[in-house]
Amino acid sequence: ATWHQAKTRLLGFAAVASADLRDDIQVPSGYQAEVIYRWGDPVSAGPEFNQDASNTAAEQLLQAGMHHDAVQYFPLPKGSTNSDHGLLVMNHEYLDLDLIHIDGSHIHATPYSSEKMIKEQHAHGVSLIEVKKKNHDWQIVRPSAYARRLTANTPMHLSGPVAGHELVRTIDDPDGRVVLGTLNNCANGKTPWGTYLACEENFQYYFVRNKMIEKAPRIERRWQRYDLGFSYYGWHQFDKRFDLDKVPNEANRFGWVVEFDPYDPEHIPIKRTALGRFCHENVAHKVGRDGRVAFYSGDDAQFEYIYKFVTREAWDGSQGVENGHLLDEGVLTVARFDDNGQMQWLPLIFGELGLTPDNGFQDQADVLVHARTAADILGATKMDRPEWITVHPHSGDVFVSLTNNNQRGVDAQPDKDGANPRNQNHFGHILKLRETDATALAGQWQVFVLAGESDSKGEIFACPDGLYVDERGVLWIQTDVSSSALNQGKFKRFGNNQMLAADPTTGEIRRFLTGPVGCEVTGVAMTPDMKTMWVNIQHPGETLSLLKNQGLKTSPETPRAVSNWPDHHPEGRPRSATVLITKKDGGIIGT
Ligand code: FEO
Ligand code: CA
Ligand code: CA
Ligand code: CA
Repeated sequence: ATWHQAKTRLLGFAAVASADLRDDIQVPSGYQAEVIYRWGDPVSAGPEFNQDASNTAAEQLLQAGMHHDAVQYFPLPKGSTNSDHGLLVMNHEYLDLDLIHIDGSHIHATPYSSEKMIKEQHAHGVSLIEVKKKNHDWQIVRPSAYARRLTANTPMHLSGPVAGHELVRTIDDPDGRVVLGTLNNCANGKTPWGTYLACEENFQYYFVRNKMIEKAPRIERRWQRYDLGFSYYGWHQFDKRFDLDKVPNEANRFGWVVEFDPYDPEHIPIKRTALGRFCHENVAHKVGRDGRVAFYSGDDAQFEYIYKFVTREAWDGSQGVENGHLLDEGVLTVARFDDNGQMQWLPLIFGELGLTPDNGFQDQADVLVHARTAADILGATKMDRPEWITVHPHSGDVFVSLTNNNQRGVDAQPDKDGANPRNQNHFGHILKLRETDATALAGQWQVFVLAGESDSKGEIFACPDGLYVDERGVLWIQTDVSSSALNQGKFKRFGNNQMLAADPTTGEIRRFLTGPVGCEVTGVAMTPDMKTMWVNIQHPGETLSLLKNQGLKTSPETPRAVSNWPDHHPEGRPRSATVLITKKDGGIIGT
C-alpha cells in the first residue's frame, strides 16, 4: 500500500560513487547489504563449503552452484503475495575452472578426471532455496522440503514441435524426448501462471568436434551458424554426449527455454521448443488483451536477433504448471527494426517467407532448431548483442539491453543502423519498444539511453546487461563490462560493475550499488512488498584468472590477490553469491 505514496519520488536514494578496484559491495546510505547464499553453501541440510574447494562432486550436488545469474522470488504459500516467506530460484551459468577444484586446475594444466567433470556438471544449472523472515531477519530454511538443484545431468522432457523429431534423437534417447540436464543458464523469466523459466545461453561451448562432416555440408553450415566445435571444458573426454563426432544431435537438445514448477520438488523440467533454439539470454512476458501471452527473448551474440513468441491459446488467468502447454503452440517471430522508428515482428513459420525446402528447411521443427538460419532468411535486424528484456508493468513498454559490439562497422561487418546507432559500440545501449498489444506484429522503437555518453541524464555506466522494471516502475540496470576490459583504458572511469536505477519517464539514472573487483552484477528480484531485494554477484575476481587462462604471466596468488570476496578468508577464494538488500528503516527499496 505504501508504495503509492512513494510514487512521486521514484528515485529517492542518494547515488553511490563509482568504485575503482574496491573488493566489496557498496549501497546507498540508509541501505544494508548482506551475503546470504554463496557458491558451495548447502541448498538444504547438505555439506558445508570447504574453503580450499576440496568438496567432492557428490557434495557439490547438494550445494550452491557457481556463477550465480538471474534470480526470482516465488511467495509461499503458492498463489499468495507473502513477502516474508518464499522460494528463491536462480541460475548458475558457468564456471571459473581455476577456482572450482582443490588444485585450482584448469583442464589444460593438470590431469583431468571424470570426478572433476562431474563436479563441474553439478556446479551448473539451477538452485532453489527456501527463505523466511524471522524477527526482521531473513534466513535460508534448512532443511527444506522444497530445496533442490538442477544440474547438467538432471533428466528433462522435450516438449513442443521439436520433441521426438529426428534432429533430437540420440543413441541413448532414440525417442528424442528426454534430455539430461540444462547448460549455461544465464538469465531467466517467470510465466504469469507462476512457473520458472531457465534460459540456456552459450551451450555451444560444451561440445567438441574433430572431424569435418564432408558428406553433410548442410549440417556443417548449420553447426557453424551456432559456433559449434570448440569447448572451454573437457567433458567430451568422459561423457560422449559432448563429442559431436559420437553424438551429433546432442547439441540440438540445448539452447532452449526450460520451464519448471518451483512449488513441486518432484516436477520434471520441460524444454519448451516452440520458443526456438538460440543463445537465450532471458525471457520476459506480456499478457495481451485477449489473454494470449507474448514471451520476448534476445539471442546474445554479436549481430544476433531479438525474438517474440506469442501463444496460440489464451491464458485463463489461473495459476499452476498445468498452463505450461500454452508454451507448446504459437508463433515465434523475430524483430526487424526500420530506421524510421517502426518495427516488424516476422514469423518463423515453415513454408512461408522463404522457410521452404528450397532453402533447406524440412519442417517446423527444422525451423525452430535452426532459428538463427531462419531469421537470416527473413531479413531480421542484426543487433549489438541482445541481453535482458523487461516489460514495464504499467505502460507495457519493452526495454532491451544491447550490451556492446566492438565489431559493428569493422571490416566487412554490418554498419551502424537506426537501432544500433554506433560503430564499434564499446559501451552498449538500451532500446525501448512500444506496441499497441502484446500480440501485435508491428511496433515502434526508440533509443532509451546510449551508455557511456557524458551527456546522459545522470550517472555514466557501460555495457548494460540485466534489466528489471519493478512494480513502482523503476528500471533497474545491471552492468557487465567484460573482465578483459574492466578497470582499464576507456573503461576505467566506469569502475567496478554496478547496478543503477532509472526513471523511464524522465530518463534520469542513479547509481545504486557497486560490486566487488572483477565481478559482474546480474540478477535481481524483489518481494511483493518491495522491502526486500536480492541481487546476484557473479565471478568476483575474474580478471586475473581470465588473463592467466589466456597464458599471461601472473604471480602465484593472483586470483585471490584481486578478489577474495565475500569471505575474505586467508585460505579462501572468491565466490559468486546472492546479496540481500534492505532499507535500514524497513522501507521500500529505491525510495
Ligand atoms: Fe550470460 Fe549474455 O549473458
Ligand atoms: Ca547477461
Ligand atoms: Ca553480458
Ligand atoms: Ca557473466
